[in-house]
Amino acid sequence: MEFHASNTPLLDWSGDGLMVGLSEAALPLSGTLADLNSRVSGLLQDLIDDTEFTGKEGSAAITRVGSGANIRKLGIVGLGAAEAIAPDTLRRAAATAARLAKKEKCASLGLSLPIYQDNAALTTQALAEGVYLALHQDTRFKSDDKANGTVDHIHLLGLPDQEPSLQAAQAICDGVILARELVSAPANVVTPEALAQTAQDIATAHGLELEILEQAQCEALGMGAYLGVAKASDLPPKFIHLTYKPAGTPTRKLAIVGKGLTFDSGGLNIKGAGSGIEMMKIDMGGAAATLGAAKAIAQLKPDVEVHFISAAAENMISGHAMRPGDILTASNGKTIEVNNTDAEGRLTLADALVFAEKLGVDAIVDLATLTGACIVALGDDIAGLFSENDELAAAIATAAKAAGEKFWRLPMEEKYFDGLKSIVADMKNTGPRPGGSITAALFLKQFVNDTPWVHLDVAGPVWTEKESGYNNPGGTGFGVRTLVQWVLA
Ligand code: BES
Ligand code: MN
Ligand code: ZN
Repeated sequence: MEFHASNTPLLDWSGDGLMVGLSEAALPLSGTLADLNSRVSGLLQDLIDDTEFTGKEGSAAITRVGSGANIRKLGIVGLGAAEAIAPDTLRRAAATAARLAKKEKCASLGLSLPIYQDNAALTTQALAEGVYLALHQDTRFKSDDKANGTVDHIHLLGLPDQEPSLQAAQAICDGVILARELVSAPANVVTPEALAQTAQDIATAHGLELEILEQAQCEALGMGAYLGVAKASDLPPKFIHLTYKPAGTPTRKLAIVGKGLTFDSGGLNIKGAGSGIEMMKIDMGGAAATLGAAKAIAQLKPDVEVHFISAAAENMISGHAMRPGDILTASNGKTIEVNNTDAEGRLTLADALVFAEKLGVDAIVDLATLTGACIVALGDDIAGLFSENDELAAAIATAAKAAGEKFWRLPMEEKYFDGLKSIVADMKNTGPRPGGSITAALFLKQFVNDTPWVHLDVAGPVWTEKESGYNNPGGTGFGVRTLVQWVLA
């Protein structure tokens, strides 16, 4: 796939498919669009009339242009109200246009969309991201790899050459696609070792430092909470610590921590029928976003030092399994009564957060497919955001907005920690069902002292059953774009 950003006006472009973004305010046609309509003998207006196109966001239509014209197909994509157009509107519109072009077998696509707030760089990046992400198809596990038409040349019309923006889009989408593929692959492929190997591949390709702590080293560090979870699996745990260091002195030092359960059976509190156990390969969605962000950041090279961490493991059952009621000691010395082995993510994160804080970073962000309760609260498209640091929470919210990813802040209601009180240990790992995402966040808080910290519960958005916007069914790569925006800000 090749992008060309050039000043070519839409009237002068020739190629397979020309796709024009129209806001509600672009109708009735005037100016250049009216000229385009005359150029195609009124076909544009016919298309609008025939499909009752009003410019509504997400709507689209396409028609064939008669031979002799400089384009074969002409498509229109709705942008909604002109004043509400955001970078993500353009990202999604570009995705819709790209899908349409692919379906119509257009090898070359001319995209004409409005420039967001005179910012050609931002617009170019959003459009390229939308196209890359919509056209990514994961056929790794299909025996019949049917390539149903490819769009190989994309021309961003009316945009001056923006090579750095195209490179940024490519780097970010590389990261998102890596995260999608890690989440989509099953647990017999993406094992803790495979996650460690992925970190190794990123380190080798982009010159990052990598440290993999094996079980014995984790034992020496006292990571009893993490190792308790890993115990029943035949697959050894891998504690991943990948570091990006800028060439000069870093302006900030950050840590990103991802939950990396390559499969969550629930342990002895095994997940039953109807629990979605067959989907629990997605329980490394936080680690996938962490590694995806690493891949992007390694290419974008900001002046920031970033530590990418995941305590990868598999939550299984066997004679070695931790039992409900066992007491584990985490690496900060705190003791945990495991009243439910299915609340395992927080146990692995406990030791990962302690490790991250010891690095002396300025801020920690963790991402975890932590609770079903968060999906009940916010649905599949919105992640939960927990923090006691307003400044860091606001920074993540700003980054998320630019990235087009949705988060909603939930309270860290201290009173609810009562639900985690244990008679025999410092705390239990599981509270009552009501407010389950909040008690999970409060549990994690016990493992961070005073470093500014945000916890993101991404259980819902890491996976989608249906195509929507630039996402395709499967892993979404959720979190990567927000993380990259945050680090670059
Ligand atoms: N990995 C799950 C949470 C999850 C559920 C992620 C659905 C994605 C989709 C987590 O380890 C878990 O099992 N949580 C339990 C916690 C409970 C035992 C307190 C849950 O949400 O039911
Ligand atoms: Mn679980
Ligand atoms: Zn889990």
